[in-house]
Amino acid sequence: MSARTLDGKALGQRVLQALAPRIARLSQQGITVKLRVLRVGDDPASKVYVGAKLRACQAIGIDGGDIELPAQITPGAIFEQISMLNRDRSVHGILVQLPLPRGFDPHLIAMQLEPTKDVDGFHAVNLGRLLQGRARFIPCTAAGVIRLLDDAGVELRGQNAVVIGRSEIAGKPVALLLTERDATVTVCHSKTRDLAAYTRNADVLVVAAGRAGLIDGSMVKPGAAVIDVGVNRTDAGALVGDVDQVSVAMRAGFLTPVPGGVGPMTVAMLMENTVRAAELQCLDENVQ
Ligand code: GUN
Repeated sequence: MSARTLDGKALGQRVLQALAPRIARLSQQGITVKLRVLRVGDDPASKVYVGAKLRACQAIGIDGGDIELPAQITPGAIFEQISMLNRDRSVHGILVQLPLPRGFDPHLIAMQLEPTKDVDGFHAVNLGRLLQGRARFIPCTAAGVIRLLDDAGVELRGQNAVVIGRSEIAGKPVALLLTERDATVTVCHSKTRDLAAYTRNADVLVVAAGRAGLIDGSMVKPGAAVIDVGVNRTDAGALVGDVDQVSVAMRAGFLTPVPGGVGPMTVAMLMENTVRAAELQCLDENVQ
């Protein structure tokens, strides 16, 4: 048996298409949805990721733009940039691309964002709302993982879900969302002893460790849904996830590819959050 591929590229396209009427409705009221991305330093991978986000903006009629700030900038000057974007009523979404150069505190920077413009969902207010089960902006990678599972019709309620990785971008928010959906959730990480003992019991396995080849077929329960959040470069320059695709595809029921799984969904969820931000800020019915 070979796992069904969960095609994040195709689902991401459908998510973008579904935003069209919402963007058109705002446009009828004279509002162009606007996203600004701050990049600090010239991390090449960040440039590629931001490029994908801005192309998605362009494809669906969002005014997307990035602002590159030098790595030598002071935190105060970044705060000032964010403050200007916070005050600019034409800007609906603001994102600070991670990772930041060494020495910058991402928490402190996220806290400068106006929470209603924080389309990454990283401000403490938005993470707090997520914990309360009344999220305004769900962090995009985590939202993409859940959307892929839902679209495939994977049952979450009462299922054993194992999340590997505890980052604030992926592992922690995915674990919260799966808990909210009545899965029984175990969070594993780099200090977990006997990882396979947990993964073999997982009906749903979300792998966000950042280690190529961490999970092979022998560690997967037959029929499980396996979501590979990893993004790693091999020595030969190829993009691979954390899961050994060949052996896991022979055991799992569902599997996301890398590339073409969670990555495009992250971008699509960012677009959805950005449209939501514009609706929250501009449409009276959304006052909360
Ligand atoms: N770097 C990797 N993933 C993300 C993300 O979801 N948001 C931001 N801002 N930076 C990232």
